[in-house]
Parts: sequence; structure tokens; C-alpha cells
Amino acid sequence: MRASPSLILVEERIRSTLSSEAPVLQDVSNYLLELGGKRVRPLLTVLSAKLFGMHEASKELLNAAAGIELIHMATLLHDDIIDESPLRRSQESAYSKYGTAKTLLAGDFLFARAFGLCGVLDAEVVRATEQAVVELTEGEVLEGTLSEDTTSSLESYLTVVSRKTASLFALSAFVGAHLAGASSTQKKSLLSFGRDAGIAFQMIDDILDIVSSSDLLGKPAGADLRQKTPSLVNILWLASGDTRAKEFFARDTSEEEIADTIAHIKTTTVLEESRALASEYAAKARSHLNSIDEDALDLETRENLFALVNYTLTRCL
Ligand code: IPE
Ligand code: IPE
Ligand code: MG
Ligand code: MG
Repeated sequence: MRASPSLILVEERIRSTLSSEAPVLQDVSNYLLELGGKRVRPLLTVLSAKLFGMHEASKELLNAAAGIELIHMATLLHDDIIDESPLRRSQESAYSKYGTAKTLLAGDFLFARAFGLCGVLDAEVVRATEQAVVELTEGEVLEGTLSEDTTSSLESYLTVVSRKTASLFALSAFVGAHLAGASSTQKKSLLSFGRDAGIAFQMIDDILDIVSSSDLLGKPAGADLRQKTPSLVNILWLASGDTRAKEFFARDTSEEEIADTIAHIKTTTVLEESRALASEYAAKARSHLNSIDEDALDLETRENLFALVNYTLTRCL
């Protein structure tokens, strides 16, 4: 992935919104920001605008990209509370360091700062942003209800992932195209591109939970097994008819059993099937870009967007 100089400006924009009269909000937000992160969503916004000829990022584009990353940061704070996750980006999560109340409030603060950046943009951006945030909230709720149901299907998994993760990817690509003056058909293609790239991204995240070490992952490995989350791997393992899967999800499990289960899943075809599905969504994502008339596009940037999709499949973080 090639870093874009616009991302430095996005970073400055994010930083400039983090001040507050309540220092704790600033501390928690800065803590998460300084932990790093891949900044995939702002990159997607910047590249999607460049695809339609915006080579120099406009002020609106930088604000939108910064706003979307702020929304992402807010969801990470809230998600670690929901998942009771001690690690984020290889270090102690804000939830673990500052506790639930401060982390919750800092998440609200980041959402409000995001409104400040995105709310002044035109009505189409505001509406699309609202829809994405509603979708991702619904996705987190739906995931919670699925966790209680050991008969979850691939279809319900796709609904969750499309909402909790891909909604923001879709928004990122859509807003970039919109602010660069793309037509409504072109914007629809970018929305679909972001959606399918986001689904592939989350699918790989689910696989990494099993194949990666906690050190590499930056969060505890096997978390989806520990919490019985309806992740892609868990859903496909259950659907495979393996009796160990049924047993595993029916009761509480020790740390030792989780380690054994990770080793067991690696001997099945579940990970291969999961990877094949992620590749399928990555190919779908590419096809949406290929459906746009080439004359309208900056073809070098389309290659960079393909590389971004490829990165989602090969990443180890
Ligand atoms: C983490 O997103 C949440 C998921 C959607 C899996 P990222 O993997 O983009 O998180 P950072 O910002 O790079 O830490
Ligand atoms: C990812 O949720 C989507 C959001 C943060 C809304 P996960 O719970 O799967 O993400 P990680 O594994 O904590 O990054
Ligand atoms: Mg989580
Ligand atoms: Mg979660």
C-alpha cells in the first residue's frame, strides 16, 4: 500500500478536533490515535476521489476523510467495551486503561467531532453518513443477538458484517467519488466496491483471529472462539457438521480448550473455505470498478484501489 500525502493532512485534521474542556476526553482519544491504526478508510476516500480526477484533495474531502476515521475510532472504543477486549492495536485498549465510563464518553465525543466535520458537507454526504453509522450500530446489536444462537447462518453473518464493518468502507468510497463529482451510477459502483471490499476485510479479520498470534494481531488471538462470536470461521465450522463444533459452542470453555480448538480448526478445511469466500468478495469488489467506463477514470488510481483490495486479503494486521 502506498501512503498518500493527503493522509498526513487528514491526520492533522483529526488531531485538530481532539481538544476538549474535559481533558479526559482528549486523553482517551489521543491515546487511541497514537496507538496507530492502518487508516484504511481515509485512504479509500482519498483514492476514490482521485479515481475521478481529484488529484489534490479538497478541504471538503479532507474533512470527510477525517470525519469517517473519527467515526471508526469511536466504534473501536465502543466495540472494545462491548467485547471486553483488553488489547487494541497491540497495546492495552482504552477500555482496559481508562475503564468503561471514560471510554464510552470519549466514543460519544469522537462521534460528535465527526458530526462537526461531516455535518457541514452537502445533504447527500450527511444522509449517507447517518445511514452508515445507523447500520454499524445495528450490526453490533445483531452480532450480539447472533452470539446467543448457535444455528447462525452464513446469510445472517453477511448481514452483520455488511453493517458493522462494510457500511463504513462503502461510505468512504462513496464520499470520495461524490466529492470528486462522479455521476450517480459511478457513485453506486463505488458504494458497492466499498461494501464488498469491507466484507472481504472483515472476513480476513475473522481468519486472522485464528491463524495469527496475539503479538502480531494486536488483540488476543482466539477472541472470537472465547466469546463465541458468530465470526466467519465459527459459522463455517458449525456448518461443517463437526460434532466438536456443536459441543464447543454449547458450553463454557477453558483457555486450554481454546488453544486446542484453534489447533483443531487448522486441521479442517474451514480456513481454506473462509479464505475462498474472502477472495470471492474481493473479486466482486474489483468487478464494480471494472464496470465503470475507463475513459472516466484515472487508471493508475484504479490500480492502487485494486492493490488496496489485495492488501485486505494478504494483510497480517
Ligand atoms: C478494526 O478495523 C475493526 C474491524 C472492522 C475489523 P481496522 O483493522 O481498520 O482497525 P485499525 O484502525 O487499523 O486499528
Ligand atoms: C469490528 O468488530 C467492527 C467494529 C469495530 C464496529 P470486531 O469486534 O470484529 O473488531 P475487532 O476484532 O475488535 O477489531
Ligand atoms: Mg471487537
Ligand atoms: Mg465486536
